[in-house]
Amino acid sequence: MAPAASAQAQTPTPNVVISPRYQQVVVTQGYDGYGPASSVVCAGTPIRWVVRSTARLSCLAALRAPTVGVCATLQEGDNVFELPAQQPATIEPLRDGDVLRRDQGRPAPGPGHGPGRTGPGGGTGVVRGTPGPAARARGPDDAGMKVLVTGGAGYIGSVVAQQLLDGGYDVVVLDDLSTGHRDAVPEGAAFEEVSLLDLDATERVLAGGFDGVLHFAAKSLVGESMERPELYYRNNVCGTLNLLDAMRSQGCRRLVFSSTAATYGEPAQVPIREDAVTSPTNAYGATKLAIDAMISFECLAHGLGAASLRYFNVAGALGPRGERHAVETHLIPIVLQVALGQRDAVAVFGTDYPTPDGTAVRDYIHVQDLGRAHLLALEASRAGKHVIYNLGNGAGFSVREVVDVAREVTGHPIPARDTGRRAGDPSVLVAASDRIQQELGWQAEKTLQDMVADAWAFARSRQPAG
Ligand SMILES: NC(=O)c1ccc[n+]([C@@H]2O[C@H](COP(=O)([O-])OP(=O)(O)OC[C@H]3O[C@@H](n4cnc5c(N)ncnc54)[C@H](O)[C@@H]3O)[C@@H](O)[C@H]2O)c1
Repeated sequence: MAPAASAQAQTPTPNVVISPRYQQVVVTQGYDGYGPASSVVCAGTPIRWVVRSTARLSCLAALRAPTVGVCATLQEGDNVFELPAQQPATIEPLRDGDVLRRDQGRPAPGPGHGPGRTGPGGGTGVVRGTPGPAARARGPDDAGMKVLVTGGAGYIGSVVAQQLLDGGYDVVVLDDLSTGHRDAVPEGAAFEEVSLLDLDATERVLAGGFDGVLHFAAKSLVGESMERPELYYRNNVCGTLNLLDAMRSQGCRRLVFSSTAATYGEPAQVPIREDAVTSPTNAYGATKLAIDAMISFECLAHGLGAASLRYFNVAGALGPRGERHAVETHLIPIVLQVALGQRDAVAVFGTDYPTPDGTAVRDYIHVQDLGRAHLLALEASRAGKHVIYNLGNGAGFSVREVVDVAREVTGHPIPARDTGRRAGDPSVLVAASDRIQQELGWQAEKTLQDMVADAWAFARSRQPAG
């Protein structure tokens, strides 16, 4: 290992801690090249960072936005410091040639890439001596995993593509631009204008060799899905079938799929857990559920390692990447359109629900938190296993709360027009995120204020000057 001595001579060395439970590396006090970054993360925050001499620049770049949670995989020679969780940073650096022991003697996952996540009771340790094969978790390309982002010209995909780039990943975006935008694809990502419905073209892209796929490409308008279900089944289900075929034929064996909490339909219990009955009430949710089943069998039969993430409303932005849907059905952008004078008022559907203020309560998750979950799930994927995680912020917010926060953030009165309930709208839809919290250490970090403020900054940045 080449020591990081020269870089360390110029900058304070970040202090990082390996969480004994999940073998995550957590920045407790960092330096991003511009100033100390210690205030933004604290011990126990489930962010995986590795400060690696050979990839120091990308790691330092990543440290500038530590909540992104992109992680390099631990590997021999990583320049990390060990520290028991919950303790202040009195630490001893690893020495040259140290190997991070993983999984208490269990073999590292293979032959794919990725960290050996240590389960409960497992541990992390340092083995001094000759590096063994278990320490080599990352694969041949130490510069970063190569990830295909389908739908990366869309809202969520473009944000996650940017997060991947910030974390030093090699990114290729595949998108047919049916609802996405070419200029949303981050600089630094290669772009393939391809539809997943074109199997040959999809295989050609996958032939470039990928460590994993984050699959966002889909049609996702509930109303449209009920008018043209065939379009949704063809695009979403057939498109994903092609993707799975191409991944299999090209040897790409990791997938994270953007499923949806719409797979549950009207839940008997909230918050909704992963073992709740799935009974989608619209064709959109039904296509996602069908895909989830397809992925499960692909894992079983062909050794894919996959995660499906189910969530409700995504909001917020990452700099110049935010929500730009031609048909906008999401509350936060609609409320902000009122603030921008593009709509007269926001309609509040139902004010007599059994909720504290009578309006419906929904789950919102910041797109950056969501991106972090995708990256954690990608890294944790295991051959032959399909895991499902619900993602939510734990509580949910009522329509009135969202409008009030938007008034506060924008300084605009945002008129609201109370109208009757919409048929089939449940009073509360909130996902339980305990499973992903326990297994991957993920939890939502951003507040509703963050979501609205970031979405507002994005919306204003897209207004013509003057
Ligand atoms: N936005 C939300 O609140 C939310 C909530 C739950 C789940 N999701 C899921 O997250 C994913 C991304 O959502 P989004 O809001 O970013 O949507 P989006 O419409 O902004 O992005 C989807 C992208 O996929 C592309 N695409 C669609 N079909 C394609 C195909 N056949 N081949 C190639 N590209 C194709 C589109 O051009 C677009 O760029 C979707 O799968 C959606 O179902 C979104």
